Amino acid sequence: MVPVVYASLTIDEEPVIAIAIDEKPKGAPRALRRVHNILARPEIALVVDEYHEDWDALAWVLVRGSARLIEPGDAGHAEAVAALRQKYPQYARMRLIERPAIVIRNLSTSSWRGAGLNDEQTSPRPGRDELATLVRGRRSVRAFETRPVPRAIVEEAIAAAGWAPSPHGRQPWRFVVVESQERRDALADAMAETWRAQLRLDGQDETIVEARLQKSRDRLQRTPVLIVPCLYLEGLDAYPDADRQHAEETMAVQSLGAAVQNLLLSLYAAGVDGGWMCAPLFCPDVVQTALGLDPTLDPHALIAVGYAASDPVRRPRLTLNELIVDWQ
Ligand SMILES: Cc1cc2nc3c(=O)[nH]c(=O)nc-3n(C[C@H](O)[C@H](O)[C@H](O)COP(=O)(O)O)c2cc1C
Repeated sequence: MVPVVYASLTIDEEPVIAIAIDEKPKGAPRALRRVHNILARPEIALVVDEYHEDWDALAWVLVRGSARLIEPGDAGHAEAVAALRQKYPQYARMRLIERPAIVIRNLSTSSWRGAGLNDEQTSPRPGRDELATLVRGRRSVRAFETRPVPRAIVEEAIAAAGWAPSPHGRQPWRFVVVESQERRDALADAMAETWRAQLRLDGQDETIVEARLQKSRDRLQRTPVLIVPCLYLEGLDAYPDADRQHAEETMAVQSLGAAVQNLLLSLYAAGVDGGWMCAPLFCPDVVQTALGLDPTLDPHALIAVGYAASDPVRRPRLTLNELIVDWQ
């Protein structure tokens, strides 16, 4: 049994599979164990399998056929090399055209896939263009229409958040969705009180304080859905020393940021926008009390979710030269 890379193509209108004998193994191609075996017994089975933790997404294809070694100049050799090079750019630099290749003919296949797979999920990775459109298109929106956001879009975004990387895969995050007017009011009022005290502490003029509070309250009360991403440290490792404990918690906070980014990208892909507000970070206990949260949930942000009332002005980004400060 050997792991291989392969390409499928047709030779003389017959579907076949080609496998290169590349330059990596030293020595004569015919001395290779796989070639030796094929020459002795051409019946082969090729298994292509797709493993997922979610067993509904498992799939495999079993191809049986008759394998043969073809030499440079043989019928189909040039096509086989072309198909392999098209599929694997790595082969462009290797002298495959001068080496024999394995071709499997008389193919018969059987396959199976889990219940959760539809054609869309089995398709290859989304293109880089699509990703760039999402990554560059996502924007912070601060004013929304009042029309509601379908529940499925919010659920999909939170599910996307859950696919973010996290320390030890422990997923140190939970999400609270605030939708009812009552809960939204409670949250807006409680946070406004804290903010008022903080602004006064800064020595801000009373009329400015009230104007800013009103704006913030309006924002919370008008946005169709609010999502509160919470840090959840219960599943993390505990260390006896403060330094490692601090690093562990920093990793959790980093991954919460990655989760929120997934959430925002998912919303944007669904035609909805999000606006990241940091306010809960400054009064986590106030948010906890207003929403009646379990003390293990540490509110870190507030994501306003809705349909953008207008396109926001984007901030310019650093250039690649500014982003990469060292590469050697
Ligand atoms: C951790 C964090 C906290 C933020 N807090 C706020 C906030 O409290 N209010 C706000 O209007 N925007 C907030 N933002 C959004 C940023 O201002 C915004 O991402 C930035 O200006 C870039 O704009 P863009 O998101 O449209 O690309 C926050 C963003 C991050 C990552």
